[in-house]
Amino acid sequence: MDLVTTVADRAARRLVRWEQQTPDALPPGPLAPPKAQMFSFLLTPGPFLRACRERFGKVVTIRIPGIPPIVQFSEPDAVREVFAASDETVHAGEANAVLEPFLGSYSVLILDGPRHRSQRRLLLPPFRGDRMRAYGEAMRDITEAAVAKWPRAPGGGERFVLQRETQAITLDVILRTVFGMEDGADQDRMRALLVRGLRILDNPVFLVRTFQKDLGPLSPWGRFLRLREAGFREMDALVARRRREGFGDDILSMLLQATHEDGTPMSDAEIHDELLTLLVAGHETTATGLTWALHDLSTHPQVLRRVQEELDARLGGGPIDPDKVRELPYLDAVCKETLRIHPVIPGIGRVLQKPTRIGGIDLPAGVAVGCSIYLVHSDPDTWPDPERYDPTRFLDKKPSPYTYFPFGGGMRRCIGEAFALYEMRIVLATILQKLEPVAAVKHVREQRRNITLTPAGGLPIRMQPR
Ligand code: HEM
Repeated sequence: MDLVTTVADRAARRLVRWEQQTPDALPPGPLAPPKAQMFSFLLTPGPFLRACRERFGKVVTIRIPGIPPIVQFSEPDAVREVFAASDETVHAGEANAVLEPFLGSYSVLILDGPRHRSQRRLLLPPFRGDRMRAYGEAMRDITEAAVAKWPRAPGGGERFVLQRETQAITLDVILRTVFGMEDGADQDRMRALLVRGLRILDNPVFLVRTFQKDLGPLSPWGRFLRLREAGFREMDALVARRRREGFGDDILSMLLQATHEDGTPMSDAEIHDELLTLLVAGHETTATGLTWALHDLSTHPQVLRRVQEELDARLGGGPIDPDKVRELPYLDAVCKETLRIHPVIPGIGRVLQKPTRIGGIDLPAGVAVGCSIYLVHSDPDTWPDPERYDPTRFLDKKPSPYTYFPFGGGMRRCIGEAFALYEMRIVLATILQKLEPVAAVKHVREQRRNITLTPAGGLPIRMQPR
């Protein structure tokens, strides 16, 4: 563990040392002021969560100003109960409310109840497993074009920031497959707006309402809102063009042709908010998974060898055939083990709508319950030697959805799971057919960027030709 992580671990332990026996009879949690808990949770989530587990075990109440107390579980039985609860008992949209100012009030992530179900029903078909083939060639071509520009040399070429590159790939994949944009001036304009807007959101303080203040066009939040408006104008032009010139096999075209149960099409505002949601939920998450996977491969040469052997045996040396990418069980296991050991999203939340018993504890309406992906995935009770990177844990084995849930669960489970895993396999296969990652830094820390846990500094790395 590097010095910064050790210091962060010590600070988090100090923060949670004393327990709070709460007046509302919630399970104990850190006594530190809610503001201190919030900053620790936002800025050093790993050390904070580990310290909570050491001090309180598998259930802890975390307090953050401005939102309900969070009773966080890391016990699989409790996770099962949370995922099984109906949308009359728990609301995920309410727990995600902090994202509303980014994504808009029609976003599937923000809605609950019948409005959520209706929106989710329209979004699901384009993400079904059988649709993936339509996106595979774009994923491969975009990766090939990006990788051709990466520096390389025997022993490792010039180092570069990997997260920046994986993010450029996954952003272009969304622009092509979801927005249906081809290379050209329109795509460049949209990409530039999105990159500038999303860079502002990287700072996790914008997950706190207090910092979401429009103090004019020069303030970060004010700049973000103006970029978002400009992005919406580009989306309107794109939608008008699709309606005028005909639909393609992109996801936007499918959404424009879909109708709610009462026969009405999605409104322009719904289209905006869902496009932005798919972009925000779908590109940085996948890019982060890819960055961690390449990091793990650079530090586990025997795993890298086995991936390469599988690629050679199943794909030969030619261009990647997206259909054959389904038949790469070891690479698939590498992606899954990476998302176990480095969950991109550390936890999920739900707000209780009525008094509910979870994990044997009676909880009142209004509190939030959380399931800690981070802690369950690193629990030695379920994952022997949890720090060890071992893809064979997933070879011919399907873990329980309550001990392994990088994509959440229940009726709010990520709709992009098949898309993300398919994209990870195609991008990794395309890179590893030609290149080998070489670690360029000794210690890599986790850092929160908006809602994701990414490698600090975006992971400097080197590449060598195979
Ligand atoms: C490695 C990549 C990804 C990870 C780790 C991930 C993880 C998650 C998690 C943890 C949730 C919350 C689930 C819950 O509350 O139970 C979620 C929701 C969601 N994700 Fe993903 N995701 C990824 C990629 C994608 C992609 C590629 C898309 C689409 C392009 C996507 C779209 C969504 C949407 C729309 C939701 C909201 C679902 C709802 O509320 O009904 N995600 N994701």
